[in-house]
Amino acid sequence: MDIQNNKRPTEILNEEVKWDKSKTIISKTDAYGTILYVNDAFSEAAEYSKIEVIGEPHNIIRHPDMPKVAFKVLWDALKKGQNFHAIVKNLTKTGKYYWVITDFTIDKNEKGDTVGYTARRKAVPQSVIEVIEPLYKTLLDIEKVKGEKASELYFNAYLNEEVNKSYDDFVIDLFSSEINILDKENAKKESQEKFKRSLKSFFFSTY
Ligand SMILES: Cc1cc2nc3c(=O)[nH]c(=O)nc-3n(C[C@H](O)[C@H](O)[C@H](O)COP(=O)(O)O)c2cc1C
Repeated sequence: MDIQNNKRPTEILNEEVKWDKSKTIISKTDAYGTILYVNDAFSEAAEYSKIEVIGEPHNIIRHPDMPKVAFKVLWDALKKGQNFHAIVKNLTKTGKYYWVITDFTIDKNEKGDTVGYTARRKAVPQSVIEVIEPLYKTLLDIEKVKGEKASELYFNAYLNEEVNKSYDDFVIDLFSSEINILDKENAKKESQEKFKRSLKSFFFSTY
């Protein structure tokens, strides 16, 4: 691999990249979203070497199918000091894609100032993608035709009217229902509250 060549893809392929979905993809940024650290699973999925992405803005893997409003709510939450979950479609170096659920946490120094952020990502079950993909497509179409503000208003109204919860809770619930199905298969039924507590350890497992 040419480690100097950190160019973004010129062609977007409708093809999922192959990566080990049991792994956790991790990256750390400074307070502005500049990449400071990525793990091996990040390189495998995104198809960039560590050298290529360190020091680059995190939007290097931004997929054009992602609506802007998804990142606006992410940054609004992080700037308010709130940890956050989001479902993201990412773009690889060769133009492929991968879907992940991301757990964002805020990194603070000993004085309590925010110095950066850490993102831990897991593969997303197909059933979750089937809910999120059409929503993101609608948001993107609204952004293209009516602008970002209209997309944000639609997103907030959708969350109020159709799911009656914040985006963060929506993502956690979508995911917990999927995990509960898996738990039932394993004869281990977990309650919603227990799930929320175990979500953290889920993001810290196997990588
Ligand atoms: C810790 C951290 C991880 C991020 N991970 C991703 C990511 O995996 N994919 C992505 O498109 N944006 C990610 N972002 C958001 C980007 O910084 C950026 O806001 C986004 O790609 C949209 O690009 P834009 O702000 O230039 O429109 C992350 C931000 C932070 C702070």
